[in-house]
Amino acid sequence: MNDYRVSPAKAEGVGYSLVENASLQARNTFRVAARANLLVDVRKAAALDELFGYAMLREQPLLVLGEGSNVLFTRDWPGVVLSMANRGIAIVDDDGIRARIRVEAGESWNDLVHWSIGRGFAGMENLVLIPGTVGASPIQNIGAYGVEVREFVAAVDAWDRPLGRLVRLDPAQCAFAYRDSVFKRERNRFVVTAVEFELSRTRELRIDYAGVREELAALGVGVPDHRSVAEAISRLRMRKLPNPALIGNAGSFFKNPVVDTLTAASLQRAHPHLPAWPAAGDHSKLSAAWLIESCGFKGVREGDAGVSDQHALVLVNHGNASGADLLALADRIRAQVQARFGVDIEPEPLIV
Ligand code: EPU
Repeated sequence: MNDYRVSPAKAEGVGYSLVENASLQARNTFRVAARANLLVDVRKAAALDELFGYAMLREQPLLVLGEGSNVLFTRDWPGVVLSMANRGIAIVDDDGIRARIRVEAGESWNDLVHWSIGRGFAGMENLVLIPGTVGASPIQNIGAYGVEVREFVAAVDAWDRPLGRLVRLDPAQCAFAYRDSVFKRERNRFVVTAVEFELSRTRELRIDYAGVREELAALGVGVPDHRSVAEAISRLRMRKLPNPALIGNAGSFFKNPVVDTLTAASLQRAHPHLPAWPAAGDHSKLSAAWLIESCGFKGVREGDAGVSDQHALVLVNHGNASGADLLALADRIRAQVQARFGVDIEPEPLIV
């Protein structure tokens, strides 16, 4: 059996570092207390080959974390937490209109959006200010303001734990759906190491999502371009979503529920203000925020666990809430929405 204990100097050289019994409080945007048996920061994807040679990494439960912006710890992690911190953006191919770029998993998503805008690529501006890393973006197929990351993903490179090697998944293999992918469904299988995106300089702007045109008008923008759309969406987000740097949160805590169109129609007859949007295959997506607000939860606070007063979908940690406090509140919200509307709202973050 290999021993994972290498000297710090050697670990630096091989592209990773290790901390035993590590605090995760600064590693999750809810800022709740939790510890891991071993925390591994990986700065070079090539180090995974060596790391997964160690029995501890192969045998203990593994949790892959980016910036921890989509996880709620309700207890310590009884194994290894692996954080991909490898950085780099490279243009693989560019014909002047379309380009393929390769981005290492540890890059910040928002930095990538600004990089793409700075180089004249269109499309990612709708996904500005989403917290988290590039490696996490395909896992839950991040989306906002009418755009999802799946629209740009050309390939995902990942360490396949059962196979014990790096693999490349094409978009079909990623099996993207609303806030979902193969990486989320087979969470224990893949460690995303890099994502390749196909970007275009001529893609049409998407400004039909509620509020975007109004925000552009408020900015005095006559003819929008991808920079002004990024500015408008940044302002919308800053107004509507609490900033995780200021108050612990993980963005939307629940997914918008998808129900069949008949159920949606009957709910809308009973509740004419319930927002609903068409979804694939005779289904409708309902606004979870509206359902939660209607149950009276917007802005509530129980101890330090609360629901944001800016957006009913966002749970917040006012200071010293534990993960269990936040989960208890989430469970109460879910039960009340079920009791009142007969609709199940599923949590969006990973709950440990
Ligand atoms: N609404 C309420 N109460 C609220 C907030 C919203 O009733 O407190 C209603 C409004 O009527 C509004 C509707 O809900 O028209 C939709 O609100 P919003 O535009 O904020 O979108 P959302 O469906 O609540 C989703 C994503 C967000 C993303 C926004 C904008 C999910 C789970 N959430 O929220 O993503 O920023 O659309 O595109 O799909 C995230 O995933 O962490 C996230 C923040």
